Amino acid sequence: MKKIAVYTSGGDAPGMNACIRAAVRAGHYNDLEVYGIVRGYDGMINGNFIELDNRAVSNIIQKGGTILKSARSEEFRTPEGRRKAFEQIQKFGIEGLVAIGGNGTFTGAELFYNEYQIPCVGAPGTIDNDLFGSDFTIGYDTAVNTCLAAIDKIRDTADAHERVFFIEVMGRDTGYIAVRSAISGGAEMAIIPEFPYDKNVVINRLKHGTSDAKASHIIIVAEGHQEGRASMIARDIKEALPQLDCRVTTLGHVQRGGGPSAADRVLASRLGLAAVEGLLEGRANVMAGIIDHQVVYTPFIDTITKRKPINQDLLTLAEKLNGRKYKE
Ligand code: F6P
Repeated sequence: MKKIAVYTSGGDAPGMNACIRAAVRAGHYNDLEVYGIVRGYDGMINGNFIELDNRAVSNIIQKGGTILKSARSEEFRTPEGRRKAFEQIQKFGIEGLVAIGGNGTFTGAELFYNEYQIPCVGAPGTIDNDLFGSDFTIGYDTAVNTCLAAIDKIRDTADAHERVFFIEVMGRDTGYIAVRSAISGGAEMAIIPEFPYDKNVVINRLKHGTSDAKASHIIIVAEGHQEGRASMIARDIKEALPQLDCRVTTLGHVQRGGGPSAADRVLASRLGLAAVEGLLEGRANVMAGIIDHQVVYTPFIDTITKRKPINQDLLTLAEKLNGRKYKE
């Protein structure tokens, strides 16, 4: 293998640049020519390839976003789109791909490999942390820290006004960000898509809390498939407990930006290197991840179809640390 290309696709995540840097530097360390594909699969279809030397990735390890841009390509979902992409890959003589992204990215990579056998190794880049095959995904730690900074500030004003705050965080199908933010932010509870929302449980806890003379409450809500879920839940609560002063804050895309944390930079660096080494070892159609501190390669089909379960102990931890057993 002499020429490889790296691309980012799907929702961007802090640390993607650190991963691009690692893949480019690892490529040159192994005497490969390295290209970057701009705008993910759309760039692959349109031949938007740029050669990346070592200097092209200087001064990016600390930056959020992705210097290669990202997109969710509709055209790549079609056989015709993938055929066009293959033509460009051939034209540039690319023999291996490093894909940085999430579920959608690897679904595309899996299809492309099955049709055209261009080896691809993935690196998990998504703030959602929802990929089977890695304990943590690139961007998750930074996103949680961004939430935490916001929660700490909201707590000040919640306390001053003795209010109940519902803070909506990202996570399309999953509550990883919500659970970790809730524990580290000292929130009363996290409401996440993995477990059905029961308004009576929330009402009951808030009733107990107020009878304990608790001044303010923070409840973290994972958006799930329904942006605005926190507002809906706040309405339910206000209806049942009109005496409470409820407010909603949606953190939104602020969670996707900013410089990556040290943990994300290290993770991204390890996985960028692992992706290139995986290609050189002849691996294909797999995602590089870290499980129990070790690099592991998981077939794309497993990362796409298997769910990484939320540790329920973490969910109950936030609730137990309220220091009161609720009768529900
Ligand atoms: O998958 C990452 C993510 O940030 C999810 O948490 C969120 O639901 C979604 O992307 C938002 O996507 P978009 O940026 O397209 O609005």
